[in-house]
Amino acid sequence: MVKFDFTLTIHYNKNGIFFGKVIRVESREISQAVIRRLPRYYRYLGELLESGVERISSNDLSKRMKVTASQIRQDLNNFGGFGQQGYGYNVKYLYTEIGKILGLENDHNFIIIGAGNLGQALANYGSFEKRSFVLKGIFDVNPTLKGMTIRGVPVRMMDELKDYIRENDIEIAVLTIPKNVAVDVAKELVEAGIQAIWNFAHVDLNVPDHIIVESVHLSESLMRLSYNISRYNEEHGGN
Ligand code: NAI
Repeated sequence: MVKFDFTLTIHYNKNGIFFGKVIRVESREISQAVIRRLPRYYRYLGELLESGVERISSNDLSKRMKVTASQIRQDLNNFGGFGQQGYGYNVKYLYTEIGKILGLENDHNFIIIGAGNLGQALANYGSFEKRSFVLKGIFDVNPTLKGMTIRGVPVRMMDELKDYIRENDIEIAVLTIPKNVAVDVAKELVEAGIQAIWNFAHVDLNVPDHIIVESVHLSESLMRLSYNISRYNEEHGGN
């Protein structure tokens, strides 16, 4: 459960222009299920903004996102409601507010540990910066990778890690190293003062409670895909 101790009231004048004020009235408990859905809202709203859409009804958003309109209203009501009956949602405002809730209004500096296949692929993904995630460094133990640059960021050796974290305001470390070394490296990162780990190694890291860990397992997503293929085939008499 995550707590937000603010609520938003939004008013519209007869031209449909809104003004909003933020007031601290109560603490609400937001379920992790809602938090998990917010990035998807954020992505869709970003696309709407890019295509010049200024406002959208929950019904139209529902059709695009293939989520029921009542689910959308329920989710967004958690934050005091950003919409207005008969007007819909102001796309830019909602996008900005969800961005704030997701902590995207400030940059997050990150480093990648492990410059192998996955580490290099992530380092090459330029769109992280669009979402406020700024790649500051890449580290590895393999000396043959030393000095190689990815999008202008050089690969450094692990003996520079601790000083680099302390001196460059690094908040997040991405772990793309073999699982047998991940636990020890995570310990080193914690000692150096990292706040969060985006963990791709298939192992539980056993870090103190104040360290935020988000683990990613692409194979789990693939297994869900496989399940849905099987279910579809059962229902439609396929293979
Ligand atoms: P890779 O072998 O291409 O790269 C691993 C890199 O880590 C190498 O460059 C190696 O020199 C470096 N390394 C090894 N020990 C290190 C240490 N103590 N400190 C710093 N660097 C170190 O492997 P690949 O394919 O890039 O996979 C990396 C990790 O990501 C593996 O644990 C793999 O199982 C995992 N993985 C996870 C996925 C997921 O969905 N969670 C998907 C694909 C890979």
